Amino acid sequence: MEKPSVYSSRTILLITIVVAIALVVVVWPLSQLGKGDASPAGGADDAELRILPVARVEMRQAGPASDGKPRSAEAIYNTICKACHDAGVAGAPKTGDKAAWAPRIATGQAALLKSAINGKNAMPPRAGDPTLTDDELKAAVEFLVGKAK
Ligand code: HEC
Repeated sequence: MEKPSVYSSRTILLITIVVAIALVVVVWPLSQLGKGDASPAGGADDAELRILPVARVEMRQAGPASDGKPRSAEAIYNTICKACHDAGVAGAPKTGDKAAWAPRIATGQAALLKSAINGKNAMPPRAGDPTLTDDELKAAVEFLVGKAK
């Protein structure tokens, strides 16, 4: 009975050594991946660099038109408003849903624009894009509301 227990404690020791070697051989090099070519600034900036192209695309989509001209109502709707109003996210009145829009339309264009500028409950101020001008918002509201008339 003594021998097997000696063997098994040796086995445990062996497994421990194998695991330790595996950690050194496999995990350590993995943790070094990408460090070799990193700038002196280090890992966090590296990660920032990797996500940068994506962030840039999003900024451009939501940002003001590069030529300084107002964005078209349809473009604003498609890039910003649609995200919530197409499917009725967070209780947003759905685009083209006449029953949902009728009582809102009844409050008047000015009130609707005011809600769009200042926000209303889950609807964020300026639809979450502070670069939207009042005129652009007005056009987008007219576009959105026009679908439900
Ligand atoms: C993050 C989601 C979201 C986005 C993006 C969004 N909306 Fe809304 N919107 C809402 C919600 C939610 C409501 C309902 C608010 C309420 O009455 O509780 C709403 C309501 C409105 C209303 C009715 C306001 C009123 O007084 O009844 C208008 C007009 C409107 N949105 C226009 C827009 C326009 C134009 C855009 C794009 C420029 C836009 N929304 C983008 C969520 C959104």
